[in-house]
Amino acid sequence: MAKPIWIKHAAQLATLASDIKGARSKEAMSELGLIEDGSLWIEDGKIKAAGTTAEVEKRYKDRLSEAGVVDASGRLVTPGLVDPHTHVVYGGSRAREFEMRLEGASYMDIMNAGGGIHATARMTREAPEAELIEQTARRLDSFLAHGVTAVEGKSGYGMNIETEVKQLRVMKQLQQRHPIDLVPTFMGAHAVPPEFKGREDEFVDHLIADMLPVIAKEGLAEFNDVFCEKGVFTPEQSERILQAGKTYGLIPKIHADEIEPYGGAELAAKVGAISAEHLLKVSDEGIEAMAKAGTIACLLPATALYLREEAAKGRKMIDAGVPVAISTDCNPGSSPTTSMPLVMNLACISMRMTPAEALTAATYNAACAINREMQIGSLEAGKQADIVLWNVRSYQELQYLFGVNHVHSVWKKGKEVVNHAKQLSPANTQALTK
Ligand code: NIG
Ligand code: FE
Repeated sequence: MAKPIWIKHAAQLATLASDIKGARSKEAMSELGLIEDGSLWIEDGKIKAAGTTAEVEKRYKDRLSEAGVVDASGRLVTPGLVDPHTHVVYGGSRAREFEMRLEGASYMDIMNAGGGIHATARMTREAPEAELIEQTARRLDSFLAHGVTAVEGKSGYGMNIETEVKQLRVMKQLQQRHPIDLVPTFMGAHAVPPEFKGREDEFVDHLIADMLPVIAKEGLAEFNDVFCEKGVFTPEQSERILQAGKTYGLIPKIHADEIEPYGGAELAAKVGAISAEHLLKVSDEGIEAMAKAGTIACLLPATALYLREEAAKGRKMIDAGVPVAISTDCNPGSSPTTSMPLVMNLACISMRMTPAEALTAATYNAACAINREMQIGSLEAGKQADIVLWNVRSYQELQYLFGVNHVHSVWKKGKEVVNHAKQLSPANTQALTK
């Protein structure tokens, strides 16, 4: 059995522990469970105790010599960050589209002309599975290097059975070989594929009759997401897809009100979606409906920045009682980044969330958005030992000194998988095995 790990003398340990069940809203988003001179005792990949160094030392006084000691003096220690919304499995690059957008083309113009999601779908359909695995593994390495220990990933660059299944199988394989926890979402309704152009309802019928049963039978996904947007899927089509998914046990999520207000947030509340994503253009009624239903708003400020749009109204949503999570939206078109630290910074700068709210949104509430809050998202006895040590002293500094990767080291299930000081990373060590 591996020896216990004793992390001690953290300048600030943000446990995120709380008695509140479920996603946190309003003032509860500021409760970080802070402990000065903090300490963690880890065994068998799990947290056994969290407290002050003196408390943990006293409790394990007979076993201290057994433990591997990690001195966290001068460092902030937090739960591993959780990214609850990514499109991390894809083929190719859209660097030219980035240039086109800067020259004046809009995101939707490019997509309607056969680029955007369609361009990535062509490249993903063509990519051999092994190549997708390698490319995605490198992106997961980068997530880990930025302190992210769990990532949701969506299909949706196939929009045909073969490629949707291929993307989800890539995630399943990476789940076996990469330290990151990967949580799969089926998003066959990401766009209407060219072969169904002008026959949108037929595509919806096909997705429900032919795709969902295959995904469910192979147990390839936990969530079902749809791009509910003018020119993509209507609220009615989205509702059909999400209700059908529910009959197979898939939990609904919705890309809602990103480009135009379209009733997506209202629909999320109506169908009992676990989260609604983007919400740049959400209506006041939508915010109210989400607060009432307890739908998590998954906000993506890096996407807004990258599309040069005004960010979602995070401050307003929190004040209205909506639990907020944040995410990179990592994808090749609207947000090609793996930096959750940057997303936390942007949550503060562009959405006026406080540093404490941003940390809750990137850890505990993000875990709630992928139905994992019983295992990850806070540092409490019984939970997975997914931990980040930072090169800053406090959670305020983490947001204040922006745009920098302050990660010192990352522990996944009680194993050190990244240490920038020792140049330990999954790409150059054996950490790619679980
Ligand atoms: O969440 N909005 C829809 N889907 C993705 C973008 C996908 C892409 O451009 O490839 C998003 O931003
Ligand atoms: Fe997305």
